[in-house]
Amino acid sequence: MNKAPIGVFDSGLGGLTAVRQLRRILPNEDIVYFGDTGRVPYGTRSNATIKRYAAQDTKFLLKHNVKMIIAACGTVSSVASNLKHDLPVPYTGVVSPTCFEAARVTKNKKVGVIGTSATINSHSYRDLIHSFDDKIEVVEQDCPLFVPLVESGFIDRDDPITRLTIERYLKPVMKTGVDTIILGCTHYPIIKSAISAVVGEKVSLIDSGRETAVYAAKILRESDLLTDSDKPGKSEFFVSDTPDGFENVARVFLGENVEHTVEQINIELY
Ligand code: DGL
Repeated sequence: MNKAPIGVFDSGLGGLTAVRQLRRILPNEDIVYFGDTGRVPYGTRSNATIKRYAAQDTKFLLKHNVKMIIAACGTVSSVASNLKHDLPVPYTGVVSPTCFEAARVTKNKKVGVIGTSATINSHSYRDLIHSFDDKIEVVEQDCPLFVPLVESGFIDRDDPITRLTIERYLKPVMKTGVDTIILGCTHYPIIKSAISAVVGEKVSLIDSGRETAVYAAKILRESDLLTDSDKPGKSEFFVSDTPDGFENVARVFLGENVEHTVEQINIELY
């Protein structure tokens, strides 16, 4: 049993997809969230820069005495997987839990993977799926405009800009006949409904935030690190730029007002 908070980080808003699911599955746990909004996007940067950012993000969370760290970021999980070896607490990224679910769900053994350019260039999802089953065909597509869309609040499924952008990236993927698509960047579940409207409801969308939260809960349970509190858990949010845009999307996505509860910090001090 352990009452310490769970630490979750991402380059921006994407990790909230894991936070929403963690709250659903483990409602009594406290959460400390860091969104590196001053340096988003990560997915267009070099591997060396992404690793440096990820090391600073984890150092910040460890200062809050977290009992586990979740890299709720497909890019960090793909490029900086070495992180887990240096941490004094349990760690998970998003790639393993998500690939496992996709390999289980696909019926025609054709899986699409969408993510940031750094994630797609790393082939992290493709290689792990092939280690489970090398008969699964994996179609990879980077979607570099999705993160700026979400960070700018274009998350409504009826917004024509959002729909056209999704069509541009996903129509070629759909032509290959995939029956399952991994949302390999945690920002993408925020526009899941808009993605589903383009690819059709028969295509299974694997939500990286959800699968990671389910897997993190399993690790905490098996390590006897769950809280014994019966009170609703508290969440603290930190960002590295002005909280305004973050608060607006977080309110819509988490379904609660986080205004005045988001604190700006200087991540370069870590
Ligand atoms: N949510 C991050 C991911 O899962 C976005 C990365 C970025 O900032 O480009 O990859």
